[in-house]
Amino acid sequence: MSDHIIDFLRARHSTPAMQLGEPAPDSRQLRTLLETAIRVPDHGKLAPWRLIVLQGPDKAIYGERLAQLHARIDPQAPPKKLEKDRQRFNAAPVVIAVIARIEENHPKVPAQEQLLSAGCVAYNLLLGAQSLGFGAQWLTGWSCYHREAAKLLGLADSERTIAYIHIGTPRELIPERERPLPIEVISPWKA
Ligand SMILES: Cc1cc2nc3c(=O)[nH]c(=O)nc-3n(C[C@H](O)[C@H](O)[C@H](O)COP(=O)(O)O)c2cc1C
Repeated sequence: MSDHIIDFLRARHSTPAMQLGEPAPDSRQLRTLLETAIRVPDHGKLAPWRLIVLQGPDKAIYGERLAQLHARIDPQAPPKKLEKDRQRFNAAPVVIAVIARIEENHPKVPAQEQLLSAGCVAYNLLLGAQSLGFGAQWLTGWSCYHREAAKLLGLADSERTIAYIHIGTPRELIPERERPLPIEVISPWKA
């Protein structure tokens, strides 16, 4: 029996987006990542998610539009914050926006379950990227929670961005992160 998947899961970690760079996944690798990402548990086969791929100059354009929106919503926003918006998508060569399409009043599948299915898509992207030798990070930020930002991405009213998965080649080794001990979070249930 091979336990290489367990070894992989024990070693998995994110790479901060700002430490990601070229090379990007090539088009075949990217297609593989996208196709495998959507193979997730999905109660009721609702496919309550979709993916939007940001690449090349479009990443900077989206960042610039977010900065403009930010300045309009909050005219007092410090230039540093607007610059952060401009740079948000510039380091990693590929960013995949995971969009949740939740049917709030579905008769059988609660909204929570649909949202979790979308979260699985985002996590599959992280796992897939690392398994192909890339680094990735799940980032969100204010634009995930603002309707006008959603419109910049072309989302319908019923859709929201739950993740920007930044993918690229790690420029540095990432130090291990402190993680909860299993004993702190796992317990048997006793009647
Ligand atoms: C839903 C979600 C949103 C997140 N948003 C951010 C974020 O906006 N900024 C950030 O620094 N980390 C964010 N994180 C945390 C990182 O993606 C990641 O957990 C952290 O870098 C360590 O990851 P690792 O445990 O995979 O190594 C988010 C994580 C999740 C699950």
